[in-house]
Amino acid sequence: MRHLISIRDLSRKQVEKYFRETEKMERALEKGRVNVLSGKIIATLFFEPSTRTKISFQAAAKRLGADVVDFNQETSSLKKGESFLDTIRMVDGYVDGMIIRHESDGSARLASEVATHPVINGGDGANQHPTQTLIDLYAIKKFSGRVTNLHVTLFGDLKHARAMRSFLYGVSMFGNEVDLCSPPGLGMDENVISEIKERFGVAIREVSRPQLSNCDVLYVCRIQKERFSDPYEAVRVQQEFSINRQILRDAKKDMVILHPLPRIEEISRDIDSDKRARYFEQAKLGVPVRMAILVDVVGRGY
Ligand code: NCD
Repeated sequence: MRHLISIRDLSRKQVEKYFRETEKMERALEKGRVNVLSGKIIATLFFEPSTRTKISFQAAAKRLGADVVDFNQETSSLKKGESFLDTIRMVDGYVDGMIIRHESDGSARLASEVATHPVINGGDGANQHPTQTLIDLYAIKKFSGRVTNLHVTLFGDLKHARAMRSFLYGVSMFGNEVDLCSPPGLGMDENVISEIKERFGVAIREVSRPQLSNCDVLYVCRIQKERFSDPYEAVRVQQEFSINRQILRDAKKDMVILHPLPRIEEISRDIDSDKRARYFEQAKLGVPVRMAILVDVVGRGY
């Protein structure tokens, strides 16, 4: 059995295989439903808010012919005091695979240790968001024409954003040059940077403002307010740290702007009509990428 818990568990070859499978899913979607998972039941267990990850996984499962059951923590026995792991054990007995999002780092890994069916990590705390990274890398390949030898800038709350941590690993795996730009105190964990540098031998620079004149991909994320001990501090940081027309003045004409979404104030809305802004198209790729993941992870062994 196979789980998808961390982008660190995947090799470059496996990621490239997901690219090929996603291309097939994109073509298949043009024709309609792909019934390769009919008879399967997939559960979405989201202990934290979600729009894209949950809905696109549910849509992906349905497009593959699977049935979906959803878990609502507000009306579940968690309210009676049932533990996270007991909840996982129970749902595991009812379904063929689970997508889990939880506020604690390591929760998906823990769940995979008690589950007898595949577990897919839909985001664990500030730690990992592997399926988002597969979407991001696929989007870069599609929009920039390649996924290697690019200059990539990560901009935002790099301390708390799991999408950023996973993405840094994924984008470094493909040998890209990276700039990290965050508000003071919200930088990427130094241990994560050293592990990645050592593993992939890539150049990672920390910069105080984005230098976009030779940037190919600008990847932005919001300030992760829910992970701050002082939410007012998050609001203050957010207002001071955003991408606007002024910052884009020196950027290349063919630069691609990505964002895992939701966008709060870190990209001003007048950028949405700029042809470099590709984040809504990126989000749409969630369905074919997650179809490829579900077929690989849940479709195995049958
Ligand atoms: C991200 C997440 O939940 O980590 N959202 C998503 O899945 N697209 C990013 C975020 O919440 O900022």
